[in-house]
Amino acid sequence: MEPTAHTNPSANRRRTRPRPVAAALLSLCLLAGCAGDSPSALNPGGTGATRISGLWWLLFWIAVAVFVEVMALMTWALVFRRGSVRVRHSQPMRFVAVAGAGLPFIILVTVYGFGLRDLAALGKSPGRDAPTIEVIGHRWWWEVRYQGASGATANELHIPVGERVRVRLRTDDVLHSFWVPQLMPKMDLIAGEERQTWLEAQRAGSYRGQCAEYCGTQHAHMAFMVVAESRADFDAWVARLDAPARAPQTDAERRGQQAFVQGTCAACHSIRGTGAQGKVGPDLSNVGSRWSIGAGAVPNDPGHLGGWIANSQTVKPGNYMPPQPVNADQLPDLIAYLRSLK
Ligand code: CUA
Repeated sequence: MEPTAHTNPSANRRRTRPRPVAAALLSLCLLAGCAGDSPSALNPGGTGATRISGLWWLLFWIAVAVFVEVMALMTWALVFRRGSVRVRHSQPMRFVAVAGAGLPFIILVTVYGFGLRDLAALGKSPGRDAPTIEVIGHRWWWEVRYQGASGATANELHIPVGERVRVRLRTDDVLHSFWVPQLMPKMDLIAGEERQTWLEAQRAGSYRGQCAEYCGTQHAHMAFMVVAESRADFDAWVARLDAPARAPQTDAERRGQQAFVQGTCAACHSIRGTGAQGKVGPDLSNVGSRWSIGAGAVPNDPGHLGGWIANSQTVKPGNYMPPQPVNADQLPDLIAYLRSLK
């Protein structure tokens, strides 16, 4: 009987051959994540992350030097010292004492010293006059408040470039962790405690942040954006957060505002200067200008906004916003109104 494809051993060998190729391709894909504009701690944009990446590279090059040295010694032993080599007993003992204990001790103490130096620098609090931002962790979004502004915003921090900004952190529910890899190391938000860190960006731009402590189903969709801008733009941003939200200009926007304030939206969300004063969900006074909807869940555009209003559970399952009983003719007005809030 002819062997079938299942029993033919050479066919089996052919099937297993692509594995190394697949593994190489997968590694390339993973490495591609490190390239370009990824929010990596090794692509620092601020003084805090520069210290962290400096320490990382120091450890990396020490590890490379140790690896090369060990490999060289091993190759030397395998290739050149095979067979009967007579050594006096005192020689290997001295070598083991120096290379096996003395050198590692010096390396570890040096690295520990650099670590302590950086830890002290990162823990130093900013000056008393530094701008202060309050960040409150919720499942699964970030409430952001600024000293000098009555209003709040969500999932977006604006900071003046080149200045150290104090960030006060607390949580409304469970443990979260505030992390902007390109600016600062992680800082946990602990229930019943107020913690403090700082941010300083050396160049203007947007830096993605992420909750770095598992906090439930939508932990991955608890992202935020830090926007570093000129001092004038920062001051204007804070001033806008102290003023009423933009008034509706068109009929659709006016109808949308009415539907928002009189409907179920206002029970959970607030919009400054209107009757909507809910405190459960994010303040929506500038929702039209935000970088995303649902703390990084989907882009902020009319289509995704409509989908979110109608049933956010299909977009970010488990979040606290129930599906909304919105009429089909009301939805475009609500979208127009919320998009106009910038
Ligand atoms: Cu919040 Cu993870």
